[in-house]
Amino acid sequence: MLTLSIIKADTGGFVGHSAVHPDMIAEATRRLDRARGDLLLDGTAATCGDDLSLIMTHKHGPDAPAVHSFAWEVFQATTRIASDLGLYGAGQDLLSDAFSGNLRGMGPGYAEIEFVERPSEPVLCFLADKTEPGAWNLPLYRMFADPFTTAGLVIDEKMHAGFRFEVYDLHQDKRVLFDCPADIYDLLMYIGAPARYVVHSVVSRTLGEQATATSTQRLSLIAGKYVGKDDPVMIVRCQSGLPSIGEALEPFAMSYTVGGCMRGSHHAPLMPVPVAQAHPSRFDGPPRVVCLGFQISGGRLIGPRDMFDDPAFDRARWEANEIMDYLRRHGPFEPHRLSLDELEYTTMPALEERLAARWEALPGGSASPARRAVPDDARAQRQPAGRTP
Ligand code: 13P
Ligand code: 13P
Ligand code: MG
Ligand code: MG
Repeated sequence: MLTLSIIKADTGGFVGHSAVHPDMIAEATRRLDRARGDLLLDGTAATCGDDLSLIMTHKHGPDAPAVHSFAWEVFQATTRIASDLGLYGAGQDLLSDAFSGNLRGMGPGYAEIEFVERPSEPVLCFLADKTEPGAWNLPLYRMFADPFTTAGLVIDEKMHAGFRFEVYDLHQDKRVLFDCPADIYDLLMYIGAPARYVVHSVVSRTLGEQATATSTQRLSLIAGKYVGKDDPVMIVRCQSGLPSIGEALEPFAMSYTVGGCMRGSHHAPLMPVPVAQAHPSRFDGPPRVVCLGFQISGGRLIGPRDMFDDPAFDRARWEANEIMDYLRRHGPFEPHRLSLDELEYTTMPALEERLAARWEALPGGSASPARRAVPDDARAQRQPAGRTP
């Protein structure tokens, strides 16, 4: 069995939150080179915006302490470089001081799949910046459940039985499985709310092959405060009974809207870009997604190919700029700004607390006694169960 892992973190931005400094990429590459042939079969460093991803193949399985602690050490080394250069938010995503077993709940995000390598193993590694893990919900639905996107669902007998989606509830730490196409309406009810419900994996019902893994941690839910956006990653295995490369890329031809952008607090379009353009500068956005394609051969990562470096995505980029202009004209108004319950983990609570004493009852009292309870109830519901804010 082979494991493909993407482990990522923002350990400091150059300049602001727009990119990773070349010295940090060089340090990560040096460490990956040293681990190749020993801990790792292969490994490469990649970036999207200010997030550094380690894309690695190995034999240790998902959640392996040796692989996770290796990544943790790389991120500590790049944090030291970021501190030395005075980069912005050095060590931003390293939420814990001490490493204990694996990276769960420690800040860095990771997506990992274990599989038997097929005779030809094409995979896509998607990396995003200035957005949250639910950003993968819409394209995953379209890749694996929408026949208007994926012709293979209709044409390929190995895909006809559909795919099983595993969905996490990030507020309650629970999961549920949906067998599609039968369950697509139930699936959509949840994953249409991507701030809370996130597709974690997708498995072929015919082949039993896991096709997808996503990183699903929400930094704000771990830290109890805003510490930057999660900037998720995703692996999609393709072809031979799974969506083709072109089908897996097709959903990104629409620049759909995600949460993130400036201060992680706005809705903005997700722009598919080549690696060289993955540096969000205007209003810390629009959020970006890059896609690195690899053929895996004997555990080696043959690639990457820069999959969005294709004029066929020009229209999506143009559309993203149009949508960005339109949303920006709303300034601090919803729906450009996220709704209040999503701002719970920003600096909003401190502002609310400062203004609390200035609120007073309406002259003559409320029209309905029941109504007076609403604001407090709403706040109680927003509080994710079992978490300390
Ligand atoms: P700061 O308070 O860290 O400046 O937060 C804003 C930010 O980083 C947006 O780019
Ligand atoms: P990152 O999550 O990419 O660090 O962005 C943080 C932010 O506040 C951007 O405005
Ligand atoms: Mg940052
Ligand atoms: Mg980032």
